[in-house]
Amino acid sequence: MIPAIKWENKVLYLLDQRIIPWEIQYVECRDFRQTSKCIKDMVVRGAPAIGIAGGYGVALAVKEAVEKDYPNPEDFLNQAAQCLVSSRPTAVNLKWAVDRVLSKGLDAFNRYGPEESLELAVQEAITIHNEDVEMNYQIGRNGSLLIKPGSNVLTHCNAGALATGGWGTALGVIRQAQSEGKIRKVYVDETRPFLQGSRLTAWELEQDDIDVTVLVDGAAGYLLSLGEVDAVIVGADRIGANGDVANKIGTYSLACLCEHHNIPFYVAAPVSTFDLTIRSGREIPIEHRDELEVLEFLGKRVAPYGVKGFNPSFDVTPNRMVSAIITELGNIFAPFEENIKKIIS
Ligand code: MRU
Repeated sequence: MIPAIKWENKVLYLLDQRIIPWEIQYVECRDFRQTSKCIKDMVVRGAPAIGIAGGYGVALAVKEAVEKDYPNPEDFLNQAAQCLVSSRPTAVNLKWAVDRVLSKGLDAFNRYGPEESLELAVQEAITIHNEDVEMNYQIGRNGSLLIKPGSNVLTHCNAGALATGGWGTALGVIRQAQSEGKIRKVYVDETRPFLQGSRLTAWELEQDDIDVTVLVDGAAGYLLSLGEVDAVIVGADRIGANGDVANKIGTYSLACLCEHHNIPFYVAAPVSTFDLTIRSGREIPIEHRDELEVLEFLGKRVAPYGVKGFNPSFDVTPNRMVSAIITELGNIFAPFEENIKKIIS
């Protein structure tokens, strides 16, 4: 698997996900501003991956504060962290990771001094990255318990290696279940407008020799009505205290279809995707991206000039439509509010 994120000699390299599968290229980030721009422009994407990148972004800010000997490093670091967190608003993993590295860096600045602060901030960012690998395996093992042998599964967007530090959340479950011989076929929604499904998920799974079929998002209902899908598994960008799930636009439609056709709808996500300050999905900020992403296709205008585009990047699936939330700490079932509290303190 080609890593989505690399950290070498205090430089951050992000695999450019805007051009996969046509080209494999890394974008270099030498400061937090470049990191923030890469997150905003979707060079790196997927909730855990933008968290990891954000963590390294803070480490780059600490490096700058040390090298330039800024008179007020605390203010500078807080502003850098704010800039990183605001790059994309929905995935809470970004704030979670940025806060973790920031608090390590600031604490070390005050206690020991600049050099130690840099060392500890970098170490914290690397720890977040490494932890994600192990969490993905655990999510895979927990999720696979829910998959019946001989299953056809459907996934939406990309919750795989490109979206994480490891082998993925939803794709981690699929990969684990595949290694146990339980998967027959994986259906992948194209996932307009960024095509995370057809470009990224299909690319990843094809390399693993998994039987992959891509469909346009609008074909999912028909496919489910044929009885061709045994389970739907998706990732998440933020999960509220009551188990409402924000994920890639189109996820809610899939969940409605699963409810109608009585098909299990699973969400796989690390604990860092939960935001217990959010009581219900209505409070989750939903990113709206440039309307041109909808009005154009691969850079060519397809809608007539003069029409407007509606481009929410995420939607919210109510907890009652979720069969289970698969985490590294275990699988959570309804009643979600109560059971989330038991697993996550
Ligand atoms: O806009 P994206 O590509 O960042 O959206 C990604 C998703 O919605 C993923 O499903 C989610 O972040 C989980 S990735 C493990």
